[in-house]
Amino acid sequence: MKIRWLGHSAFLIEGSKKILVDPFITGNDKAPVKPDDVDCDIIAVTHGHGDHLGDAIFISKRKNVPIVAIYELAEYISSKGANAVGMNFGGTYEYEGVKLSMVPALHSAGITESNFTHSGGLPAGFVIEMDGKRVYHAGDTGLFGDMKLIGEIYHPDVALLPIGGLFTMDTKLATIAARWIKSKYVIPMHYNTWPPIEANPEEMREDLEREGIKLVVLKPGEAFEL
Ligand code: NI
Ligand code: MN
Repeated sequence: MKIRWLGHSAFLIEGSKKILVDPFITGNDKAPVKPDDVDCDIIAVTHGHGDHLGDAIFISKRKNVPIVAIYELAEYISSKGANAVGMNFGGTYEYEGVKLSMVPALHSAGITESNFTHSGGLPAGFVIEMDGKRVYHAGDTGLFGDMKLIGEIYHPDVALLPIGGLFTMDTKLATIAARWIKSKYVIPMHYNTWPPIEANPEEMREDLEREGIKLVVLKPGEAFEL
């Protein structure tokens, strides 16, 4: 399995299938791809904020692939003419051998459109299981105690954790999250896209290594092979 970071919270997880998560590409100067070039079999969106829903609807229509999201966000996506699969917490959606399980996130989820904000349901994370390996994409989230349960239930090999602060956990809180989740690897995300979420992931390395957790810092476009 290859976990390729496309900047911000966008990842392309490649194995027997290609899963695209939170494809915020247009508007992200650091994105190493164009919405016209991304290849995927399925798209997962954690919540309706613009830096996560991003180019999902465009790519879904272009590739004719479904978008998996929480029910209310899926309804919104359907209303825009894309193929959406609605689900909710505790549920698992199976797609051609890939399992996407929806887990909570501690955040907000409104979808802002011109002068109107849709509720967007609730923010989520995903545990993605493919080829016998599990990746937890935490979405945007603060620290919450049930991350321990996510670790206990799903045993993710890799956790993709936001570290930029202000809208999500910072490096200090993400270090605690990693300790609770107990994944073998942590890949930081949602930082250095803009000045308000500047962070130095290296601040986490020593504390994580003491717990036997390996920190994998990617540059946008780079992939980690699991
Ligand atoms: Ni957000
Ligand atoms: Mn965000």
